[in-house]
Amino acid sequence: MFISFEGTEGVGKSTLIATLHQILSQRYAVVLTREPGGTPLAEKIREILLQPNQEKMSDSTELLLIYAARAQHVEQVILPALQQNKIVLCDRFVDASIAYQYGGRGMDREKIDILTQNFVKQLPEITFWLDAPVALGMQRAQKRGELDRFEQEKLEFFNGVRVAYQELAEQEPDRIVRIDATQRPEEIAAQALELIEQRLKHKNS
Ligand code: TMP
Repeated sequence: MFISFEGTEGVGKSTLIATLHQILSQRYAVVLTREPGGTPLAEKIREILLQPNQEKMSDSTELLLIYAARAQHVEQVILPALQQNKIVLCDRFVDASIAYQYGGRGMDREKIDILTQNFVKQLPEITFWLDAPVALGMQRAQKRGELDRFEQEKLEFFNGVRVAYQELAEQEPDRIVRIDATQRPEEIAAQALELIEQRLKHKNS
């Protein structure tokens, strides 16, 4: 089962993923991975994408680097793990490109969809979208220390990202599950776990 996690900065994605990984690993084979990244080559591309002090990166370059990393990650990590019947927990996936590059940067959504159609062979079965007011998440992200190239963006950018996640959740209600990220971490984890168990049961019956 392929599960991805989405949301704007500071909504508690990492905490949720770590908790689910710990619990699910007791009973299943689980692969924990992330985007951009997940293989040594894709992690190098991640560094380029997140590094703030460089020449201004064009939106097209950003999008293509993200998909270069994704192609490597899908082929090297995600597909092999799914073929071995493992649970894949992926911190961000294609929805992040629609949210950030379309919703945030204002790129043409069709350009992104074409890349997905051509280079992504598998979409997640469940996508948890952790949703909280953008300002709240930005405060949390700022407390973590130095801001990366995306975290340095303004409130307006992240509002665009959030609106795009909302749009996606409305378009794909069976796959994308909104979780109120202002709840306590234990409540968030319990909701996610319940749905995963339900889907696993359904899949195996
Ligand atoms: P994070 O994993 O620490 O959230 O950092 C990854 C950053 O990369 C995050 O700010 C969102 C951004 N990103 C995109 O803009 N598009 C994408 O498709 C992905 C996967 C991430």
